[in-house]
Amino acid sequence: MTTLWSGRFDAAPDPAAFEFGKSFRFDRRLFEEDVTGSIAWARALARAGVLPHAEADQIEKVLKEVRERGLSDPPFVNGDDEDVHSFVERLLVERLGDIGRRLHTGRSRNEQVSLDLRLYLMRHVPHLQRGVAAVVSSLAAQAASAGDALMPAFTHFRAAQPVLVAHFFLAHVAGLRRDYERLAGARAEADALTLGSGAIAGTSYDIDVHALAGDLGFSRVVANSIDASSDRDFAATFHYACALTMIHLSRLAEDLIILCGEGHRFFELSDALSTGSSMMPQKKNPDPLELVRGKTGRSIGHLMALLTAMKGLPSGYNKDLQEDKEAIFDAEDTLAACLAAVRAIVDGLTLNREEAAAAATGLLLATDVADYLVRRGLPFRRAHEVSGALVRKLLAEGRDYESLSLPEWRAASELFGDDIARHITPAASVAAKRTPQSTAPPAVAAALSEVQAWLSRVTG
Ligand code: ARG
Repeated sequence: MTTLWSGRFDAAPDPAAFEFGKSFRFDRRLFEEDVTGSIAWARALARAGVLPHAEADQIEKVLKEVRERGLSDPPFVNGDDEDVHSFVERLLVERLGDIGRRLHTGRSRNEQVSLDLRLYLMRHVPHLQRGVAAVVSSLAAQAASAGDALMPAFTHFRAAQPVLVAHFFLAHVAGLRRDYERLAGARAEADALTLGSGAIAGTSYDIDVHALAGDLGFSRVVANSIDASSDRDFAATFHYACALTMIHLSRLAEDLIILCGEGHRFFELSDALSTGSSMMPQKKNPDPLELVRGKTGRSIGHLMALLTAMKGLPSGYNKDLQEDKEAIFDAEDTLAACLAAVRAIVDGLTLNREEAAAAATGLLLATDVADYLVRRGLPFRRAHEVSGALVRKLLAEGRDYESLSLPEWRAASELFGDDIARHITPAASVAAKRTPQSTAPPAVAAALSEVQAWLSRVTG
């Protein structure tokens, strides 16, 4: 086995140590990007007068064949090579001899590995964004079909106030919309050409880095060669975007696990996406949701692992950075799989209107009682006390607002009029909301149309 650096040593590397340092097992996933980057580099060398154009053409032709072969026959991307960069160069030299040996002129694997990862993220992040948009679309469809259905919203996981079921679905949309933008930001951060940085100090050849950036689809060039070989901020930003998306999926998963369960039954999970118990015949378990919640830990872990690895590093490339790749691939795979699972679950949800509405009434209306008194001039702090005293009475007597007679209302406060019963219902409670971000039906309808318009923009 030969390496790209064997000239410096009298002895072959220790097999175990070499094995330990290899990354080809996982960085083979950067094969396409590595070849694409190398083709562009050959052209840049030719433009710089370093390579005759005829030789650059030969390199390009062979690399294109290699790329084709590797893409149509993935097991071809294999060998004893140290990493994907060595693999591609070996194939080129096997096919072109000394012409192939000229390709690495003025280039280092330090900038190359960063280039490959950046190209990889620029190509793959949009798939994740499409996955996020697909979940948004499913949530929006549930919001639309929920219509005016009601459910309680929770604070401290205690029933708080009635809301439209649509408002609940759109709450999850709001987080995912931010994730979509955050992923776009991660892609934009990756969008910088590193070639021209050399191993650390830049390159001594007259490379037109702006033309090269254009060839590879980058909109800019890195600012500093030392920084370029050290920098994995774009990878950390990607992990952060993935981890936060996973946290949002996990929150949705947790909501659905609880709200589909025995205690609430607001929604029913599709049988096809649930699992049974090997022992307890009655069980219908939300395994996919639990897996989404569980896998969130690995995404957060990848972010922590990278930040921790970066924390101790001096400037320049350090082999520690090789740890970046498996984590990126796993974060991507995990998020893609979870987005697909959540999308299927949301599509398969059935709303149990009666159960959800039944839980949205009762003492949840205590804030509306106080608001009624405020509208009749009572200071809110006094209104809160009056409403609180009524809550205490109803709890003690095991009763509800509906059972209160007008004299009983008026015993609590003279300000209650004979219209009170009309105001103290879940539907009146949501209708009374006034702000655009509230659960007021017109506000929710407007929010839903805005989401639908966004969807047609980003998926259209
Ligand atoms: N496999 C290496 C990595 O993933 C490629 C860069 C190697 N550079 C070096 N100086 N050893 O980071």
